[in-house]
Amino acid sequence: MANLTTKYLGLTLKNPIIVGSSELTNHADKNKEWADAGAGAIILKSLFEEQILMDIDAERVNNMSGTFDHIENYLGFYLKKHSVDQYIQLIKNTKSSVSIPVIASINCFDNAEWVSFAKNVEQAGADALEVNLFVMPADFDKDGRTLEENYLRIVKELLNVVKIPVAIKLSSYFSGLANFMLELSKTGIKGITLFNKFYSPAVDIEHEKIVAAPIFSKAEDNANTLRWMSILSGKVTCDLSASTGVHSAKEVISNLLVGATTTQMVSAIYEKGASHITETVHALEQWMDEKKYASIEEYRGKLNQKNIKNPMMLERAQFMKYFSDSGK
Ligand SMILES: Cc1cc2nc3c(=O)[nH]c(=O)nc-3n(C[C@H](O)[C@H](O)[C@H](O)COP(=O)(O)O)c2cc1C
Repeated sequence: MANLTTKYLGLTLKNPIIVGSSELTNHADKNKEWADAGAGAIILKSLFEEQILMDIDAERVNNMSGTFDHIENYLGFYLKKHSVDQYIQLIKNTKSSVSIPVIASINCFDNAEWVSFAKNVEQAGADALEVNLFVMPADFDKDGRTLEENYLRIVKELLNVVKIPVAIKLSSYFSGLANFMLELSKTGIKGITLFNKFYSPAVDIEHEKIVAAPIFSKAEDNANTLRWMSILSGKVTCDLSASTGVHSAKEVISNLLVGATTTQMVSAIYEKGASHITETVHALEQWMDEKKYASIEEYRGKLNQKNIKNPMMLERAQFMKYFSDSGK
């Protein structure tokens, strides 16, 4: 029978299927359910820098009249501490409920409020930390390199604070994506998660207002991750984890073939429940047995850009334009 173990961030996982950061992983009991169903690891829901700041601001608004500076400071401190304490408890409770690796998650856009939290996360016993780092590149006064330097600065400060392995979860909103990922991989981080899926806007044309777009992905949404996984995996010096659109063993296997170390699943588990983890692990095992692969290392990266006959397949994004031009 095939051996599904994989090394990720220096940790040994019994298989490469991780339950990704979301409300699915916000409670120790649920995390035990995912572990019992066969997940290789769990990434806890994020502690949001933004959320903490918004909590503080909401209290400020509610207490506008007659508020004194020291009360504001106290409330800010209390709310921040409360969120952090709950999160620390989530790590501890999950660690005592499961035997698979538990990866904590912090969601941030700056380094002001959260870098010190990272130490608490480490002390609570998390096996690793995934940092979901995103600055919306919507500031007309900031060029791409300035934004990239901000990311690098945050990562550097974080690595000075914690000793546990760190993975950075990113979007694909970088103009020099390949170059930046390579630079980032050399900072001392152990992994990059490709890619985060955003809470996105849609337009309700009936009521003419901005609303939230559907939050769950489809398997087709994995294409962008797959492309970049293949381009980057033979080059960057850290592990890569696939996120967005991993819905079944087909996407798990595809991402391993293009060089992923692990794959993260969220939407599919929301839609199908814990048994889907068991089924996906089983289908992966079955595929490996049929192909006579004894371990993942025998085929991981077989289809990364360095190993395929026609590497331009991955970069020829404008083929539609090419064909329509040539057909004129
Ligand atoms: C309801 C929901 C909550 C999420 N919460 C977080 C979060 O707290 N932190 C984070 O890094 N990603 C969060 N995500 C993003 C997921 O981790 C994942 O990157 C995204 O859903 C794409 O994976 P999927 O296609 O398997 O759903 C959330 C996604 C959903 C649907």
